Amino acid sequence: MVTGAGGGIGAALARRFAADGAEVIVSDLDPVAAEAIASEIGGLAVAADAASEDDTRRLIDTAWAELGGIDLFCSNAGVLTAGDENTPDAAWLRDFSVNVMSHVYVTRHLLPRWLDQGSPKRLLVTVSAAGLLSLLGSASYAVTKHGALAYAEWLRATYAHRGLIVQALCPQGVRTDMLMRGNERGSASATLLAEGALEPAEVAEIAAKAVEGESFLILPHPEVAGYYQLRASDTDRWLAGMNKIQRAFEDGGR
Ligand SMILES: NC(=O)c1ccc[n+]([C@@H]2O[C@H](COP(=O)([O-])OP(=O)(O)OC[C@H]3O[C@@H](n4cnc5c(N)ncnc54)[C@H](O)[C@@H]3O)[C@@H](O)[C@H]2O)c1
Repeated sequence: MVTGAGGGIGAALARRFAADGAEVIVSDLDPVAAEAIASEIGGLAVAADAASEDDTRRLIDTAWAELGGIDLFCSNAGVLTAGDENTPDAAWLRDFSVNVMSHVYVTRHLLPRWLDQGSPKRLLVTVSAAGLLSLLGSASYAVTKHGALAYAEWLRATYAHRGLIVQALCPQGVRTDMLMRGNERGSASATLLAEGALEPAEVAEIAAKAVEGESFLILPHPEVAGYYQLRASDTDRWLAGMNKIQRAFEDGGR
């Protein structure tokens, strides 16, 4: 199962797992996009809003009805709203619903079927390096991706001994519509991240290797580990460095 699989990283995950022989359910808010990827890879398209509990329940029921179950759930759908403290409440709440509550709904309806089944089950949550660090230019993304990471950590800590393997995919820039939209708007962060951006297929390849193991953090950009360590060990220096980047953006007129 891959959510947000009609494009970007989700489509790349769907293609990669299908190439391995998996039967893939391609789920997306956009039914046309889901259908296009599903027919390309011989998968099953299911239109669903990952931020809706009813849709998520239906999606999981469909997987059991059509395929007899789910071995790997890639909870990948996510949204980014550029902004700061003035981002409207409705956008904050939408970002929270898609970036955090989607994972809650998935587990609320999957875990009763998954836990204590004997064979390990895998949940791959697409977080972001923003969940480990921050993202200049989008307060709601930085905050909700921290929430996604916190929830994934909590799940792993709570259910590891009952056969649930949770992993958090935390890339920096990936060349998808999400990043390109930011670039077109002239977002300073998007421009910076685009420079070191990976292709979605590269991220999917790294994720596919990682789900053969059990490491919690999957870091397609290895340098993120160093930034994360600095953030923990010398928070003031890390924050000063982030602010320096912010000032450079402002001086550049962005
Ligand atoms: N692109 C990056 O630089 C980057 C970096 C780190 C993490 N991520 C994360 O990776 C994930 C995928 O991002 P992407 O770059 O492929 O984005 P994208 O915008 O290119 O594609 C996202 C897909 O998700 C679908 N979608 C959006 N809202 C949905 C919803 N509520 N329910 C179901 N589907 C929905 C869209 O229709 C689209 O097909 C997100 O969680 C994002 O936060 C992206």
